[in-house]
Amino acid sequence: MKTIVRVRAPSNIAVIKYMGKSDTSVNLPANSSLSLTLDALCTMTEIEHSPASGFQLEWTGVSEMGGRSLRPLALQEKDRPKMERHFRRVLEHFGAPLAGRWQVRTGNAFPAGAGIASSASGFAALTLAIAAVIGKQQTPRSELAALSRQGSGSSCRSFEGPWVQWDHENAASVEWSLGPLTDLVILIEESEKAVGSSEAHQRVRTSPNWSGRVERAKSRLARIRSSLVEGDWKSFSSTCWDEAMDMHELFHTSEPSFSYWKPQTREVLAWLESIGAHRGDVKIGVTLDAGPNVHLLIPQRDEAFWLDKLEEHFPANAVMVDRQGAGAEVLFRRELPA
Ligand code: DP6
Repeated sequence: MKTIVRVRAPSNIAVIKYMGKSDTSVNLPANSSLSLTLDALCTMTEIEHSPASGFQLEWTGVSEMGGRSLRPLALQEKDRPKMERHFRRVLEHFGAPLAGRWQVRTGNAFPAGAGIASSASGFAALTLAIAAVIGKQQTPRSELAALSRQGSGSSCRSFEGPWVQWDHENAASVEWSLGPLTDLVILIEESEKAVGSSEAHQRVRTSPNWSGRVERAKSRLARIRSSLVEGDWKSFSSTCWDEAMDMHELFHTSEPSFSYWKPQTREVLAWLESIGAHRGDVKIGVTLDAGPNVHLLIPQRDEAFWLDKLEEHFPANAVMVDRQGAGAEVLFRRELPA
């Protein structure tokens, strides 16, 4: 028999950032983080497992799956050992043999030029797909998340939604009543990252601002958690801003320093400041990942209003629109004669 599964896993956008690790070998974070699970910005992964002698892993980046056009997620040779380690980790966890032919087909449903990191959605999709192929698709989400985390930390927040908190080894959804949200991503530039996120996690420790970072993240997390429950936009917005600036300031003050910002990133941030986004005068949670693009978390009902504003102020920039989602899912699992 051979087994084929198809899964999709969304990306997530953190408002309290995972930056700095307490254990790099299994990606344990220096501080707890909190993110919004996205929906359409996702990775789709199919795995076909058939009997064969030994262990064979074949990886193909595909540009289409189930009628959806994708950007092929090619496996770079340098990432191959990491992927093979992840296969081994997941199979060993479930006591399944590292045997047979594994054909992985995968791609990202991110529009071209998005410059959105795919390690969160990519590892979440891969973890769920491996588990599903061996019949473990009913595994508790928390267990899958903990396995996925060991491949890439932020992927553990893509198994549930819409709001997920990651503390040490556990990632789970949390209470919220802020209303349905949209993430507007203002695309500034897609360039090869000067500093990869694994390197960033290490380098931030050299910043003088590292001292007190864990405590600052902790108190902001508490503030955002209560603003989510109480529906307090003012506190939500100002805390998102402070946290994003704190993380980027760590980059800007590391030794050696680095920055993901482009001149236009600063222009967009200056405009957001001019309308009071940093003080929570408008219902926008501003955040940036390890990249130049600016994310605006807004109420879904305000989408048209903010898209008009962005068109007026930044007509040359594409804006990607995604909404909150529920986390990774198995789309199908089929057993066929080999
Ligand atoms: C800036 O999850 O990519 O996006 O665990 O080394 O794979 P590894 O790092 P990764 O770090 C992403 C950090 C961030 C902030 C966040 O998502 O919390």
